[in-house]
Amino acid sequence: MNPGARIVILGKQGAGKGTQAVRLSRHYVVPHVSTGDTFRAAVRSGSEFGHKARKFLDAGELVPDEIVIGMVRERLTRDDTTHRGFILDGFPRTVPQAEDLMQLLQPTGVDLVINIEIDTSSVLRRLASRRVCSDCGANYSVGDNPPRVRGICDVCGGEVVQRDDDTESAIRRRLELYERETAPLIEWFEARGLLATLEGTGSPDEVTDRLVSEVDRRKQRALPGC
Ligand code: AP5
Ligand code: MG
Repeated sequence: MNPGARIVILGKQGAGKGTQAVRLSRHYVVPHVSTGDTFRAAVRSGSEFGHKARKFLDAGELVPDEIVIGMVRERLTRDDTTHRGFILDGFPRTVPQAEDLMQLLQPTGVDLVINIEIDTSSVLRRLASRRVCSDCGANYSVGDNPPRVRGICDVCGGEVVQRDDDTESAIRRRLELYERETAPLIEWFEARGLLATLEGTGSPDEVTDRLVSEVDRRKQRALPGC
């Protein structure tokens, strides 16, 4: 299958969006665009923007639509994404964000919106054991996938810590907002014939195989003459 893909990943907190987005981005050789990672990088930089974003992130609240939409518009109009595509992780998360995205991507649109499905008890377990690199954002799990040296990132040597929004109250709020604001997007994209709901259980490799098979099937189907 040719490299290049235009994919959106939906899923509740801890479903594995980030884990799978990194893998799909390598597989299809396209940028991984994560709104959460972009906000966390801004917080680390100490910029004014990061200072504003931090209040929302730490409380598990959504950053206002106009801020997120402006940021994604800027990223998706750069040459790498317009030419090769993207794996969008964490955007859209509300109906106004989805409407804006589809308008921005006219006339090509997206190849597929993948909804990674997983039950809430599994995501709570995953979030409790998640650790991330405070420098490069690489993802670990204290149980299944710890860094080789405790507390030190395998990729960049940065410090591996718990995410500031992986607290009990922020997780509860993020899951509430997912149900209220983001879950309606499943029907929204389904009505437009763009959605595939795939199981998020099993090992990360098994999930990646499932996702790649579905993306390739859709891309094949979209080829002229198929
Ligand atoms: P964001 O960073 O997107 O966080 P999230 O939506 O809460 O999702 P997570 O990153 O927690 O989960 P994930 O699905 O990526 O799971 P992961 O792969 O890490 O957003 C953070 C904040 O930014 C938001 O709360 C909001 O404030 C703001 N924001 C971002 N986008 C926004 C938007 N569009 N609008 C408004 N505000 C926005 O996996 C979780 C753990 O499970 C890891 O430890 C991983 O190693 C492990 N794991 C993954 N897959 C498996 C597997 N198959 N088996 C076992 N363990 C696994
Ligand atoms: Mg993530």
